[in-house]
Amino acid sequence: MTRHTRTSRFRPWAALGLSGFLALAPGCPPALARADDTSDVALEAVRRLKGMDLSANPSLRAAVENIADRLRGQPASVEVIRDFDLRSRAGHLVEFLRHHPEDAAAPEAIRYLARADARLLDPLLGSPTAPPPLLKAIARSGQPEWNDRSEALLAVAAAPASVRESALDALLQNEPGARRVAEMARKGSLQGPLLDRAAEGLRSARWPAVRELASGLGRGPAAQAGTPGAPPKQKVLDAHGDVARGAQLIRRDTVGCLACHKIRGEGADFGPALTEIGAKLGKEALYDAIVEPSAGIGFGYEGWLVATRDGEEFVGLLSSETDQELVLKQAGGNLARLRKPDVLRKDKQAQSLMPAGLADNLGVQGLADVLAYLASLRPPTP
Ligand code: HEC
Repeated sequence: MTRHTRTSRFRPWAALGLSGFLALAPGCPPALARADDTSDVALEAVRRLKGMDLSANPSLRAAVENIADRLRGQPASVEVIRDFDLRSRAGHLVEFLRHHPEDAAAPEAIRYLARADARLLDPLLGSPTAPPPLLKAIARSGQPEWNDRSEALLAVAAAPASVRESALDALLQNEPGARRVAEMARKGSLQGPLLDRAAEGLRSARWPAVRELASGLGRGPAAQAGTPGAPPKQKVLDAHGDVARGAQLIRRDTVGCLACHKIRGEGADFGPALTEIGAKLGKEALYDAIVEPSAGIGFGYEGWLVATRDGEEFVGLLSSETDQELVLKQAGGNLARLRKPDVLRKDKQAQSLMPAGLADNLGVQGLADVLAYLASLRPPTP
């Protein structure tokens, strides 16, 4: 069996160039030799070269570029282009985003473009029919680079509602963008459902100063009644909740629970699964978990804010951390993979990653329905 120690592992490849190395497939580590698909082999090989300085080795650079070209249009190309900072291939990512804006790798492609050359996306975002999935990917990336574009799209009254909504969501995912939304709402440029959506987004923003800007905006039930804040606990616990209605409510986009929680096969894997939550928490504890998430943060679900050297901030759950890489799981389930040398600092957050205020617009009956439904989620009885 061939032995590959950590220190000697890269040298033969570097000397041969990666394509030369790949031609020697029988001599490569078993994991590589077994993969059938040549792209898998190429990708696996290139992953092991991560961290090498390509500028010192033109033939290696050519081999890595060659692999990026072979992976062109595939999600795996995003990782290769990012990890080796292949700016000459940034255009491939634009192409990838044009065809696969809904792919899980899309936000990562966007983050790379934000660093490499944000203007490359302009052609895709420049018209009032900009694709909403791309704007959603920008929202998931949390990048502020396209705030001008998003704001312009949001301001076009004639643009399709789905475009304006997605542009709004993209702005709400970064602090300067959220402030722009508050300003537009204050000036009266947002109306009707769009204003409600803006108000809701601002109220549940993760920046306290932004949440304050939301007061008095929108026509949500709470704002109408002039009683912002959650429905009072005792009233909710006294009300008779309807399990079926609760099940519907929780699945509404505007309530948003499934954007972060799984219930059986449904929803995103971010916060703890709620599949059997009724066996763990009674109605009062459920009320507290929803209305005051930061009062009792689940172990292992603390939020972290990670700042990188180039001034980006990421918020999420710490999914893994090694000497090379720190992986944050972000709301929606997206993974942000940050190179350790790029990380400036990381701080544990006192605030839960579950936004407060989610129940504010449900009303007493709505929240009672949601609690009844959650309390009914238990392990199947044999
Ligand atoms: C942005 C993501 C996000 C959204 C949206 C969200 N949650 Fe959470 N939730 C979390 C996270 C993260 C935790 C774990 C941290 C904590 O306990 O505060 C959590 C914890 C909980 C818990 C406690 C679970 C336990 O095992 O102790 C309950 C119950 C809960 N959420 C219900 C809801 C409901 C109901 C909604 C919709 C109204 C909702 N969540 C929306 C992220 C979210």
